[in-house]
Amino acid sequence: MKILGIETSCDETAAAIVEDGSRIISNIVASQIDIHARYGGIVPEVASRQHVLTIIPVISQAMAEVSWQDISGIAVTFGPGLAGSLLVGVNVAKAIALAKKLPLIGVNHLEAHIYANWLAPSPESSPLKGEGTMMMNFGVKFPCLCLVVSGGHSDLVLMRGHGQFEKLGRTRDDAAGEAFDKAARILGLGYPGGPAIEQAGNSGTPCLPLPRAWLKESHDFSFSGLKTALWHLVNKGGVSVADAAASFQLAVVDVLVVKTIEAARQLKVEQILLSGGVAANKMLTQHFLASSPVSVLIPPPRLCTDNAAMVAACGYYHLQAGKISGYDLDVVPSLSLG
Ligand code: KG4
Ligand code: ZN
Repeated sequence: MKILGIETSCDETAAAIVEDGSRIISNIVASQIDIHARYGGIVPEVASRQHVLTIIPVISQAMAEVSWQDISGIAVTFGPGLAGSLLVGVNVAKAIALAKKLPLIGVNHLEAHIYANWLAPSPESSPLKGEGTMMMNFGVKFPCLCLVVSGGHSDLVLMRGHGQFEKLGRTRDDAAGEAFDKAARILGLGYPGGPAIEQAGNSGTPCLPLPRAWLKESHDFSFSGLKTALWHLVNKGGVSVADAAASFQLAVVDVLVVKTIEAARQLKVEQILLSGGVAANKMLTQHFLASSPVSVLIPPPRLCTDNAAMVAACGYYHLQAGKISGYDLDVVPSLSLG
């Protein structure tokens, strides 16, 4: 069963065809990074206009080798995200569903990030290619603990089965990706901040004293104090950008890894599933693989950042469960999980 996935929640215009919730047939992502980089962050109005220009060519490219007769449903992200951006994808999905008489499947973007773990990666795309063992992303076992770390969210979610999500923790202020983006701005590095900090940190050592908000009494996260501490450190002067980037990265990684593994132990889960743009971070994946008592599934980097293959995979499981949306499906910019 082939599903067309459509993703326009933020600054990536994406369409993909996925078979049986796992096999990627096509996965097209048109990134707007270059357009927004000159402003140092995403400009919502520019993003939605760019989606309007790009969405049809992106879908046509995703459909290049596939016949419409072979498509069983149209899955689309309806939240969370930027309202104007979400509207473009949702309306295009509705139009296609109506014209082709196909089921319309509204998908939560955060749920979709988690479903990137069901996509079968090609061995070459492993994030730790050539660096020892990598858990192959087949056979997710329930219950599992999902860490969704993106530009807007740092959620710790218990998943007991398909479509069964219980949110255990969230960020109390900045999301992990947002913290990377703001730290990069403090350090005068580019946008998006995650890859920029990772690259700068590669030539530094994590030697600077930065705080970790453990919030021991809960599964919540907090990264704004860390960002402020970095700002003070940099303002005092005499700090190398590479060392600051390495130290900041380690502080974020430490908190995410220790708190997630602690929760996994408490809840006796079978597996940990990483997802979201920050899961593309090599240090994060290495620390998880080195210290987790249970297996850790990590999508390859291009499936951690926004894409439509994860939307199609998620849509497949919705369709299997009979969860179909009406044509009155609306965007929900503040949609959450669980
Ligand atoms: O999931 P995503 O592509 O979009 C959202 O749903 O937000 O995540 C984007 C976020 C950005 O904040 C970006 O800086 C961060 O993921 N990110 C990374 C890396 N690649 C992307 N953070 C740390 N290390 C990376 N390699
Ligand atoms: Zn995302």
